[in-house]
Order: sequence, then structure tokens, then C-alpha cells
Amino acid sequence: MSKVVLVTGASSGIGKAIAIFLSEKGCIVYGTSRNPKNNQDFSFHLIELDVLQPNSIKNAVAFILEKENRLDVLINNAGVGITGPIEDTPTEEMRNAFNTNFFGAIDVMKAVLPQMRQQETGLILNITSIAGYMGLPFRGIYSSSKGALELATEAIRMEVKSFGVCVVNVAPGDFTTNIAAGRYHTPVFDKSAYKEKYQDNLDLMDAHVAGGMNPKKMAEKVYKIMNTKSPKTHYKVGGFLEKFSIILKRILPDNWYEKLLMNHYKL
Ligand SMILES: NC(=O)c1ccc[n+]([C@@H]2O[C@H](COP(=O)([O-])OP(=O)(O)OC[C@H]3O[C@@H](n4cnc5c(N)ncnc54)[C@H](OP(=O)(O)O)[C@@H]3O)[C@@H](O)[C@H]2O)c1
Repeated sequence: MSKVVLVTGASSGIGKAIAIFLSEKGCIVYGTSRNPKNNQDFSFHLIELDVLQPNSIKNAVAFILEKENRLDVLINNAGVGITGPIEDTPTEEMRNAFNTNFFGAIDVMKAVLPQMRQQETGLILNITSIAGYMGLPFRGIYSSSKGALELATEAIRMEVKSFGVCVVNVAPGDFTTNIAAGRYHTPVFDKSAYKEKYQDNLDLMDAHVAGGMNPKKMAEKVYKIMNTKSPKTHYKVGGFLEKFSIILKRILPDNWYEKLLMNHYKL
């Protein structure tokens, strides 16, 4: 039987690549966008969902259940970027990023779990970030929103296991998508104490995303995880150095690791 899959944030980038790939593999895919009418030419169903609007989440899940009577997989992918020195970043913008990347993802899980528990089967993949494994300078709020989702996943995974539901994290490294265009950039204020270093780091971040991997790699990994008998808690999809940086954090003394990061970001 074809799996019924919900992919949030499927209008572009990683979510779109996953939705297309899974449709090609025979899944029944419902991708989402806040403005599905702006995006007509998709090979999968594109429905409205804004993770910041609880009713919109509820309606999207109810729509799928009405059509398909079940929901096998949630790819919890919708997310936004945010950059800036923490001191200069408006707290309201930090809240917005957490509301999307953390509470939004939690709310979508809460909306699908009753059905998955009732079916006694289900798989949830939370798309986090390798940046969620360490506090990255000028991306501290993004790192912490994704790190928080990593930890919440570890917890909920244990809570729902006995109901037949499996929850995993999939952490991408740099992928070439629209994320840089869509993210909130704290302005480089003329009077900021961080002006030059932040500007240099912004340029570096944009270069990393522009030179990132093809989102299809994420789609292939997601499909592989969907076909794994007992999925692990954590998956990372990225370049060698990105993945190695997580291992280094585990094995190096804190101040050595910090020195490495500061050298890399020229701080
Ligand atoms: N690209 C990377 O290098 C990278 C690295 C690590 C992690 N990630 C994570 O991967 C995920 C996908 O990012 P991407 O790079 O593919 O970015 P993207 O191209 O900007 O796509 C983001 C998607 O999220 C949706 N979205 C944004 N805010 C939303 C909201 N409030 N409610 C519902 N949907 C919302 C957007 O849909 P609409 O605008 O159509 O609503 C869009 O489809 C994100 O969680 C991101 O943090 C990306």
C-alpha cells in the first residue's frame, strides 16, 4: 500500500525535493505552503499550512485524513533562518524563529500523533540542522532553535515508542535552497560593536549555502530512513567536515573546540 506522507514547507528547497522524490517513489504526498495558490505546478498535492496558526495545522491534517483515512509519515520540515549578533538581534525576531522552528514543529507533531497512535504505526522525521549541535557565532538563535528540537525529539521518541510511533531527527548541513533569501537578517548596524565581524560572517554563511549540496540528497536519505526497520534517533546529512565537527565537539576539550570554531569564523 502506498504510504501517505505530509511534508511541511514543500514549496521550495529541501521540502520540495523530498515531496517530489517521494511522489516519484509511489507515495501519496501532501506538501504544504502558507500560500499554495502561488505554487500551482507541483507533482504532489500542495495544501495550505502555516505552522504559526494552530487552526491551519488542524485543517491540513483533517483534510488529509478525510481523503486518505490515514497518515503514515510526517516530514516536519518547515523552518526559517535567522542571523545576527545576539546582542543586536530584536528579541521579537528570536521569538518568531523559535515559534516556527521549535513550537511550530511541536504543534505539527501534536496534530498528527492522535491518528498515528490510533493506527498504532507512524514515522515522524524532524528536520533539524547540523548547526543545532553547536552554538554557532551570529547564528546562535538558529542553532538553539534547532538544538531544542533535537532534544525534544529525543524525549518524545521515548514517550510514543510503545504506541508504534517512531520519531527521528534528520540534521542537514549546508544545502542550496532559498533559506538565505527567506531568513531574518539582523541589520549590520553602523554603530554596532560587531559590525565588521558580523558582515564577514554573513558573507561566509551565504557562500556556504550557495555552495551547498543538492537537496535531492536529503530526499534520498529520507526515503532510506522510511525504509529502515528500526530508524536511529539522529541522522546527519552533510559534508565530511560538517559531520566531523560534531565528533570533534564530543572528543575535544571545550576550549580547543571553541578555538577551532573561532579560527574558522575569524573571530
Ligand atoms: N538549506 C540549508 O542549508 C539547511 C541547513 C540546515 C537545516 N535546514 C532546514 O531545512 C528546512 C528546509 O529549509 P530550506 O533550506 O529548504 O529552506 P527554504 O527553501 O526557505 O524552504 C522553507 C520552507 O518552509 C516553509 N515555511 C516557512 N515558514 C513557514 C511557516 N510559518 N509555516 C509553514 N511553512 C513555512 C516555506 O513555505 P512557504 O513560504 O511556501 O509557506 C518553505 O517551503 C528548514 O527547517 C531549515 O531550517 C536547511
